[in-house]
Amino acid sequence: MNRTVEKNRTLLVDGPASVVTTSGKVEVFGLRMNNTQRIVIREGKRLPFAVEEKATFDISLAQKANVEEVEGNTIPPSWNEASEELSTLQNKPITAMVVGTVDSGKTSLCTFLVNKLLQQKKKVAVLDGDIGQSDIGPPCTVAYTFLAKPTTDLFNLQAKNAVFIGVTSPNGAADKTIAGLTSLKEEIMKENPDLIIVNSDGWIEGDEAVKYKIQLAQRINPDVIFFIQQREELAPAVNALGKFRKVLVVSPPLINQRSREKRKNLRELGYIKYLRNAKVQSYPLGWLKIEDSELFGLTKARANTKEASRIYSLLGMKPLHFTEQSDRISIIIGKRRWISTENLKRLEENTKKKVVVIRKGEEEGSLMALYNTERKFLGIGLLQEIEYLRRTIKILTPVSENIAIAAIGKIRLDKNMKEMSAFGEEGQPEFPAFNKLS
Ligand SMILES: Nc1ncnc2c1ncn2[C@@H]1O[C@H](COP(=O)(O)OP(=O)(O)OP(=O)(O)O)[C@@H](O)[C@H]1O
Ligand SMILES: [Mg+2]
Repeated sequence: MNRTVEKNRTLLVDGPASVVTTSGKVEVFGLRMNNTQRIVIREGKRLPFAVEEKATFDISLAQKANVEEVEGNTIPPSWNEASEELSTLQNKPITAMVVGTVDSGKTSLCTFLVNKLLQQKKKVAVLDGDIGQSDIGPPCTVAYTFLAKPTTDLFNLQAKNAVFIGVTSPNGAADKTIAGLTSLKEEIMKENPDLIIVNSDGWIEGDEAVKYKIQLAQRINPDVIFFIQQREELAPAVNALGKFRKVLVVSPPLINQRSREKRKNLRELGYIKYLRNAKVQSYPLGWLKIEDSELFGLTKARANTKEASRIYSLLGMKPLHFTEQSDRISIIIGKRRWISTENLKRLEENTKKKVVVIRKGEEEGSLMALYNTERKFLGIGLLQEIEYLRRTIKILTPVSENIAIAAIGKIRLDKNMKEMSAFGEEGQPEFPAFNKLS
């Protein structure tokens, strides 16, 4: 489909779609379109093509896509002011943090700022702290990259390094997220950047969220924070972060608000991107350092034989595998085995520990992160199976480099890469397996 748009108007395209600007002067998030480049817009995303001189477009729309035209430029003037504010800062590197609620335009503002800075030939890194709607790394990770050229979608970039958090919200994983971002910022600093643009997650309302943003800002120590205001939702955060230089910017009124389901779908595109060409690979358990695997009983802490027989007799059966930690015992049983509630209670009372029962097979689909010996992030994978007797682990992953460390997340995906309810997710029983049996 061809379309002509007059100057001082904006063409809003909702994906899935692709657009070539065939003539005229057009900008997307500060990036000047050339007449050959095909811009792909993912489902759930909207791109504003701001027309400065009468332009023609060649547009391909898939189902569910949409195009509309509006008067003026949908980039708020305050976004230009934000970019100018960065030019007034003299130190090197300059760290700027973007704070706003979900769907306020955080990613778009980062993209806009980066594009403007690249025009000034700056060396720019984006540090992505939004684990729920990550742009740079796979979902559930914080990640960074340096940009060689301007872009309309940060999602097209390759992460230089990432840290796996294993959940989709920092609520409950605040320390881990902050530690991940801090270590990645230190890594970026070694490359001598001019600027670091830090995106943050949309968890902003409520005391816990504000406390988290304060801790994050203290560790990242930005020279300026850009707050994207929609209503009054940011007031507590703006007050609490008063000691930092702040700039309030406007959330574009024509933003594309997405439902929880759409946000989940966008995340699933992220899993698909990072699991493309995955193959099942099998590793002896002894070869890998496996982190966050308490649930599946892969920690070293293993009771002695005497303690083991005491546990077996309290359970009234010999499980496939078990591990005992200071506060809990994880028991893995075969698919068709069963333990009576009475026996489980007896074990809990006797050991004064929480007993968690996992049925073999429940590990399948758990999201994993894979690292090399230097802890460089290699990619993600899905746990296929833990073979307790053969002491091997099977992982579905496209990663072909040598893996030294594997971390297991709390998110599980089904065969179609759709998120299933996670272990320990809010509103879910902490351990579904346990509840099934009790
Ligand atoms: N100025 C604008 N004009 C039109 N659409 C816009 C504009 N700014 C952003 N959008 C679109 O609105 C949607 C939401 O913006 P964006 O993804 O930047 O928000 P976000 O705060 O990063 O959201 P999330 O919380 O999901 O990460 C996107 O599809 C984006 O392309
Ligand atoms: Mg975003």
